[in-house]
Parts: sequence; C-alpha cells; structure tokens
Amino acid sequence: AEPLRVGLIGLGTVGASVFERLASLPGRVRITAVLVRDATRSRDIGGSAELGAELAQVLTDDPEQFFASDCDVVVELAGGVGEETDEKTDVDAGSRADRPRRSLGTGALVRRALASGHHVVTANKALVARDGDELFELAARAGVRLAFGAAVGGAVPALERVRELRARGRRVRWIAGVLNGTVGFVLDALENGTGLDAAIARAQERGLAEADPTLDLDGTDAGHKIVLLARAAGARSVAIDGIAALDGSTAAVAERARTRGLRLTQVARVDLGDEQVPDTALDHSSEREHVGDPRIDRTTELDRTHRDDSERSARASVRLLELDRHHPLGRARGEDNAVSIGLDDGETVVLHGRGAGAWPTAEAVLGDVLELARSGVSRRSDRTAPVGGNGPTGRPSES
Ligand code: NDP
Ligand code: HSE
Repeated sequence: AEPLRVGLIGLGTVGASVFERLASLPGRVRITAVLVRDATRSRDIGGSAELGAELAQVLTDDPEQFFASDCDVVVELAGGVGEETDEKTDVDAGSRADRPRRSLGTGALVRRALASGHHVVTANKALVARDGDELFELAARAGVRLAFGAAVGGAVPALERVRELRARGRRVRWIAGVLNGTVGFVLDALENGTGLDAAIARAQERGLAEADPTLDLDGTDAGHKIVLLARAAGARSVAIDGIAALDGSTAAVAERARTRGLRLTQVARVDLGDEQVPDTALDHSSEREHVGDPRIDRTTELDRTHRDDSERSARASVRLLELDRHHPLGRARGEDNAVSIGLDDGETVVLHGRGAGAWPTAEAVLGDVLELARSGVSRRSDRTAPVGGNGPTGRPSES
C-alpha cells in the first residue's frame, strides 16, 4: 500500500520528536511538509545530518505551501487556539524576498485542514476542549477524523480506556486524575526545597510545560484534560466548579504535607450524573484539601445544542489535595500521570504512566497516526465530500 502522506504543523518539543519517529517509518508514512512559524531558524533534529537534510526539503513557514503539499493527514503540534492571521514580509534576500505571506493561528489551520478533507491528529487539549463540538461537526461534514489521544495522559491511554469501557457497556460514574506533569514535577521539587521559579524553569527545560506555563500552574491545562475525559465518558456539558492554582504559598504547604508523611497533589476530577464523586475515590483518612486559593471564577460550558437524553451533564474541579503516598493518585511522581475511573458497579480502574514530555506524547501521536494508516483511511484525493457538500451527517466522529 502507498504510505500515508503526513503534513506536520509544529517542530517544537513534541513536533521534533514526532518528526523523528515518522521519518523512521518510510514504508508506512511519508512526510510531505512541516509548517513552523520561522523556517529560517536552525533546527537540531535528532543530531543527524541525514534527518536534517530530509527536514530541509519539507520545512516551510508558508501555510499555502504547506497545504499545497497535498497530505492525507495533518498532525497539529503547534499549540494555542488562535485564529489570528499575521501578514509577514520576508526581509531576507533569496527566493522568498519581499513576498508577503500569511501566518495562520492554530485554530485557523486546524479548521482549514478539516474543511479541505484532511484527517487531523492533535495533542492540543486547549483547542479540543474549547472548540471540540464545532471541530467534530466540521470533521463529520468533510468525512474525515479528528484524533486527539495525545491530548490527555501522554503514554497513559486515558481517553482510549474510557471509550473502551463505554463501548463495553460500562457506565463511568466519576474520574479522578493527576493530569498535569509540570505541576507534579514542580510540587516534587518544592517538597525538596527548590524554589518555585527554579522548579518551573526546570520543568520547561525538560519540555514538560506549556508554551505559557501559567496554563499548567493555574490548573487550566488539567481542567482542559478533565473536560475531555468527561466528554469521552459521555458528558455533553461540563461545568468547572473550582480550580486551585499554585502560588507563592504552595511551597510551604507542600513542605508541611511532606513532614506529615503526605504529598500535596493536584487532582482533577469529574462527577458524571446525579451522584457526587464518592469519598472512596480519594479514600484515605489522611486526605485533606488545601484550600489556599481556590478559584471559582471560571466555568467551562461546552455546547449544549446537540444534547439528548442519553448524554449526561458533569461537574468538574481541579484541586490541590494532601494525599497519602500510597494512595493510587498520591503515588504519581514527578511528571507521571495517574487516572482512576470509577464504574457503576463500584469497580475502579487505575492507570499510571509517563504523562508529559516529548517521548510519551510522541508515542501517543504516533499511535493515532498509525491507527489511521491501519484503518485504511482513504487518500485525500479519493474523498469526495467537501464541506458544505453531501458529506456524512449526524454525530461527529471522535477517534
Ligand atoms: P512548542 O512550543 O515546543 O512548539 C511549538 C511549535 O509549533 C514550534 O515549532 C512553532 O514554530 C510551531 N508553531 C506555533 N504556532 C504556529 C503557527 N501558528 N503556525 C505554524 N507553526 C506554529 O510546543 P510543544 O511541542 O511543547 O507542544 C505542542 C502541542 O502539544 C501543544 O498543543 C501542547 O499543549 C501539546 N502537548 C505538549 C506536551 C508536552 O509535554 N510538551 C504533552 C502533551 C501535549 P517555531 O519553531 O518556528 O517557533
Ligand atoms: N504541559 C502539560 C503537562 C503537557 O505538564 O502535563 C502534557 O499535556
């Protein structure tokens, strides 16, 4: 079979790792273009001259050139949700001199990719949590898939497990998770006496943090992830009740927890349906909530337009809790993630693994790309359903 043609957007922490992995699968995948903001910047890809030469042939900062490369799948690893369009003019000499070009925001790139019949694989939890309903509709109308397994849990197949449980007819009652590796890493460092700024800088060096680390520290990133898990469990609308941020007082709280044999842990959780998340979800007599600065000023409501009776509403929160070190969630160290899934019969499924950074995320992205290749999705040129045309209708396809 012909290799799947892949266009990659973003060549940062995750994108560079995905490029290397895709380039190692020449029979199955062919990289047709790589879009970045600035193609003139020097790139150190896997330290190999061969890979560097391969990259030079496909690297561009021109969205028009990127889409002209005619790929089947767009892998979006740029981050952000923006639509903004900048006019930029090359000032350097050479073939592109004085040619005005447009730089598109990530939201605009993903919409364009879907609308023009490309499958999209993304790790962008912010975009999918915010605009998922619209993007899935767009994908369904174009007859393509939007896959985002890498958006939650890194190497922990959290979304996949929730979907699989549902497909087997199990009802998910609640989900609780340690979902942000940067916060886990920073809390560990604080516990060991490192200052907050130094801890954040180290998380950035390790490629764990978002481009704007405030999104990690103020709980927004964990909030996006719990929204995606809630939706995978069947929730149509998710209200965020409260989000606790790390702040200047957190180091003292983490240290105090440590001296009592506990661990300060960021826990995101969601309760689906009528019942509250049961205490057994975080069942330990030594658990206490740190109520330093809970923020309750933000509420995320996903689109309710298509809600029907089989879909459920959910309430979610992101909190800082003092957990026993043997607690299933308290055991997650550093950038590891942990997810507990509570089922209607009282059973709890617990998953652990590496949650943030280049390789676990690249593995999850690759899993989605290879799943598309395996499922024999048609080449883009074979598809006949432009948006607005007679494409499939009905429920958007979430892969
Ligand atoms: P980086 O900031 O390291 O890299 C971003 C890359 O995207 C850069 O190469 C940048 O180009 C390019 N880029 C940004 N905006 C645009 C645009 N408008 N058009 C074209 N190219 C653009 O990000 P990460 O690799 O850390 O993260 C990427 C995504 O993966 C994010 O959505 C993040 O939330 C998600 N993610 C990250 C994880 C991690 O551990 N780091 C884990 C799970 C998900 P240039 O190089 O020219 O600046
Ligand atoms: N910044 C995120 C984290 C990356 O630290 O968990 C993984 O989604």
